[in-house]
Amino acid sequence: MNELEKFINQVIHGDALEILKQIPDKSIDLGITSPPYNKKEKHGGWLVDKVRYNGYKDVMSEEEYQSWQVEVLNQLYRVTKEGGSFFYNHKVRYEDGKMIHPLQWLLKTKWNIWQEIIWNRRIAGNIRGWRFWQVEERIYWLVKGKPKELKSKHAKLTSVWDIRPEHGHKEHPAVFPIELPTRIISSILDENDGIVIDPFCGTGTTLVAAKLLGKKYIGVDISKEYVDYAKKRIEMAKEEERRILKELSLYSIELTFKERKARGFWK
Ligand SMILES: C[S@@+](CC[C@H](N)C(=O)[O-])C[C@H]1O[C@@H](n2cnc3c(N)ncnc32)[C@H](O)[C@@H]1O
Repeated sequence: MNELEKFINQVIHGDALEILKQIPDKSIDLGITSPPYNKKEKHGGWLVDKVRYNGYKDVMSEEEYQSWQVEVLNQLYRVTKEGGSFFYNHKVRYEDGKMIHPLQWLLKTKWNIWQEIIWNRRIAGNIRGWRFWQVEERIYWLVKGKPKELKSKHAKLTSVWDIRPEHGHKEHPAVFPIELPTRIISSILDENDGIVIDPFCGTGTTLVAAKLLGKKYIGVDISKEYVDYAKKRIEMAKEEERRILKELSLYSIELTFKERKARGFWK
């Protein structure tokens, strides 16, 4: 068994950084994650209160948090193949009246930022009047070298993604809607084989999408409860297939630009 084999199609209970250090160089095709956001549970607040993890306290000094994220992202860079991509979901936060932007630490990593995607979560209602209601999160498409060009069949995908938040898994406070990793995996890997990693996998949404799309996966989470939940979810992945197929059908196009041109559409 080679060094990588033992990680394939596994959900590993452990610390992201420690596990990543054990993965060989240049072995991963694609990564997707949403790390804990350092929401500072100690400050309380209704919304912060709702996003409490099991077995992990989301509270660090901002400096410590950003250095940790840089270290994790640089390990991810090391394990990614040349031409590979990593999709990093985060958001603009505010502390003591000041904006904290993900670019503050992303620019300190080895990754090249290929694109910033706005995830419009379309959540309604302004419960506090300090700022206009923040409905969006960001997804950074990070690349190592030059990625392959997206195929024309993905032409309907833009840099603004309208995807509603997930409400289906009460066991975890911050689950991805499965449409999000589905969109990423299907457009980046297409029909190719590949290994997809999520180092903060929570309930395993990225891994379920990878499995249903016929890819290999590696997941890591520090909470034993979430790891067990993710494993069960992967076993029952078939139940989530309907949503994946719907997402794929939404942006599939019947004829590519090239095909239309060949058929004389613009003469
Ligand atoms: C935003 S959640 C990810 C949710 C996931 N995208 C999903 O769909 O379920 C972040 C996850 O990071 C995990 N976590 C926190 N610290 C960690 C660490 N040091 N190593 C690995 N996982 C960690 C938390 O337990 C939590 O499940």
